[in-house]
Amino acid sequence: PITACLFDLDGVLVDTAKYHYIAWKRLAGELGFEFTEQDNERLKGVSRMASLDILLEIGGLSPDEETKQDLAAKKNAWYVEYISSMDASEILPGALEFIQSLKERGIKVALGSASKNAMLILNNTGLTPYFDAIIDGTKTQQAKPDPEVFTLGARELGVPPESCVVFEDAEAGVEAAIRAGMRCVGIGSPETLGRANLVISSLEGFTVDRLLGLQET
Ligand code: G6P
Ligand code: MG
Repeated sequence: PITACLFDLDGVLVDTAKYHYIAWKRLAGELGFEFTEQDNERLKGVSRMASLDILLEIGGLSPDEETKQDLAAKKNAWYVEYISSMDASEILPGALEFIQSLKERGIKVALGSASKNAMLILNNTGLTPYFDAIIDGTKTQQAKPDPEVFTLGARELGVPPESCVVFEDAEAGVEAAIRAGMRCVGIGSPETLGRANLVISSLEGFTVDRLLGLQET
């Protein structure tokens, strides 16, 4: 049976993708090249340093390791500044309602995010108390598509992977869920998330009964 749900953060529960985008774009601007919304798609679900590598590749730059650390720190300082004024109004439509309905039905809830800023976001939006386990970028060694973040989440909840459903908006995250031996609901477009058991456009109107229907898949 399905007894737990594991949620990605950025793009699933909160709309932080726009802040990541503005910060990366600002960095590219300082380095002297354009960074488009389309380029930004490649960074979704990808860790901070891996995102920087993609950005630098787009700009045709290859600085040394120390410079890279400085650039990543600079981007993060801007990003933290942007998200510091976030509040509950930036929770994506339907996300809070769905999490509340899971709690009412006794289904466990965990976070599985690559972000090292997850706690700041959860605290600013008031989401922290809803989670039975929180696994973020400060607790993992391997980035998605490695299953580590979800495997750790299930272990902390004390449930087997086959009882877990992952909610993800990134292709790397769907792959991580599959590798963890879990079912996955993709949030976004079927073109990129086609390997998920189900793809929906948002959590708005999504119900526990539809979730439990996945038990047949
Ligand atoms: C999530 C986001 C990525 C971000 C990564 C690391 O996976 O989708 O865009 O780069 O987290 O976030 P951080 O807050 O640690 O830089
Ligand atoms: Mg995401």
